[in-house]
Amino acid sequence: MAKDTSQTGPKHVAIIMDGNGRWATQRGRPRLFGHHAGAKRVRDIVEACPDLGVKYLTVFAFSTENWKRTQTEVAGLMKLFRRYIERESQALLKKGVRVRFIGDRVRLDDKLVSLMDELELLTAGNDLVHLTVAINYGGRDEVTRAAKRLAYDIEQGKLTHNDVDAETLAKYLDTHVLPDPDLVIRTSGEARVSNFLLWQTAYSEYEFVDTLWPDFTPAEFAKVLASYGTRDRRYGGVKA
Ligand code: FPP
Repeated sequence: MAKDTSQTGPKHVAIIMDGNGRWATQRGRPRLFGHHAGAKRVRDIVEACPDLGVKYLTVFAFSTENWKRTQTEVAGLMKLFRRYIERESQALLKKGVRVRFIGDRVRLDDKLVSLMDELELLTAGNDLVHLTVAINYGGRDEVTRAAKRLAYDIEQGKLTHNDVDAETLAKYLDTHVLPDPDLVIRTSGEARVSNFLLWQTAYSEYEFVDTLWPDFTPAEFAKVLASYGTRDRRYGGVKA
C-alpha cells in the first residue's frame, strides 16, 4: 500500500492524460473508445483526491492543437464532454467537487459552453476538491489572451505599463483563482510539456509514467504522490 500522503503530498496536481488512442488501438477499437475509457478514469481519480490530500486537480482534456485531429475524433470528443457534464453534474455536486473550465471558449459550440457555465455555477459552493478541466487550452494562447486583456485595460487607463509585473499578469490568466501546481503528471511514456500551464508550472515537479491514461488507477496515482513527498523543492534557492 502507498504511504499516507494526505498531509505531506502535493495540494495541486495537474495531469496530461495521454495514451487514450494507443489504449484503444491495442484493443483493435476506434480511438474514441479510448477517450470514453479515459473519461471514466477521470471520475476515479477525482474521487480519490480527498483521501490523498489533493485539493486541486487540473486535467488537460483538449488542447488548442487537438483541432488538427480528424473531424470524427474532434466531434466525438466534443460530444463526450457534453455527455460527461450532463451525466456527472449531480454526482460532482454531491461529492463536494467544484468544477471550473479553463481555455478559450470562443471556438467551442454554444451548447457545450452553456453546459460548462451551468456546471461551474451549480458547483460554485463546493470546496472539498477543485477540479479544473482544460478544454481548447494552450499555455501560449492563455498568456496571449491575458496580455491582450491587460493591454486593453492599459488603453482604458485602468493601469499603466509601470503596474505590469508577474503578479499583475497572473491575474489575467484563466487560472487566476488557483494556486500553481505542485506536481504535473503525464501518462503514456511521453516526456513533453505540450503547452500545458506554461506560466503556472515554473517551479512544479514533473512525473512521467509509462501507463496509458485509461489504465492509470487511483493506486498508481497514490504511488506517484508518495514519491513526490520525498522530493526537495527549493524554488531556485538553497535548502533551508
Ligand atoms: C490524449 O490521448 C487524450 C486526449 C487528447 C483527450 C483527453 C480526454 C479524456 C481523458 C476524456 C474526457 C475527459 C473529461 C474531463 C471528460 P491521445 O488521444 O493523444 O492518445 P495517443 O497519444 O495514444 O494517441
